[in-house]
Amino acid sequence: MSIRIAIDGPAGAGKSTIAKEAARRLSVIYVDTGAMYRALGLYFMRKGLDLHDEAAVSAAVPETSVTIGFEAGEQQVLLNGENVNGLIRTLEVGEAASVTSSYGAVRAHLLELQRDLARRHSVIMDGRDIGTTVLPDAELKIFLTADVRIRAKRRFDELAAKGVSTTLEQVEAEVRERDERDMNRAVSPLRQAEDAAVVDTSVLSIGEATAVICALANERAKERGLTV
Ligand code: DC
Repeated sequence: MSIRIAIDGPAGAGKSTIAKEAARRLSVIYVDTGAMYRALGLYFMRKGLDLHDEAAVSAAVPETSVTIGFEAGEQQVLLNGENVNGLIRTLEVGEAASVTSSYGAVRAHLLELQRDLARRHSVIMDGRDIGTTVLPDAELKIFLTADVRIRAKRRFDELAAKGVSTTLEQVEAEVRERDERDMNRAVSPLRQAEDAAVVDTSVLSIGEATAVICALANERAKERGLTV
């Protein structure tokens, strides 16, 4: 049997960097569910919808098909057949994903795709509700977090490296707003699963956090006689 590892946590905790590296070391597939919500956010933006109009956004959901492929181990997200990987990493698309991922129709649309990937492969899946809703029976659940000021500083440095002009205060305000929305929505809010191990990257480096997760995964696989 294969192993399913769920990694949830707020934006900027280092989830995707850590999950990607842990997946490489454990030779399992890394599934970035945020990218799927971002692809849908991009679709609604392109269509010019009012993202706060749940009825209008929900009505457009059946027009979309999100599929996943892998190229050299990197997840590629296809939106209605178009590879949108290069278009979904902007702040604007992140905001669109955060707003529209609170709608039940949007979440239901992606749920089966996510579960199906975990049925067919050993996975590390990262998101907000993987341990609580998508894979409640995952063999290992991690809640990856960090102090909000540290997460904001990381985002700020990333943006500065890309030449985006902003201030640390502005980025911190956006991170707090995103946390607020992701944690307080009615459907599948970001929440720590009861049986999740907490890994805090305020006190651990990315490398240390990755090592902790790989050690837990190997231990769990051994206990349960699973292959990773
Ligand atoms: O992890 P990210 O920044 O790429 O995610 C973008 C948004 O998508 C995030 O603000 C909330 C939403 N999301 C979600 O609701 N559930 C998930 N499993 C993953 C992401």
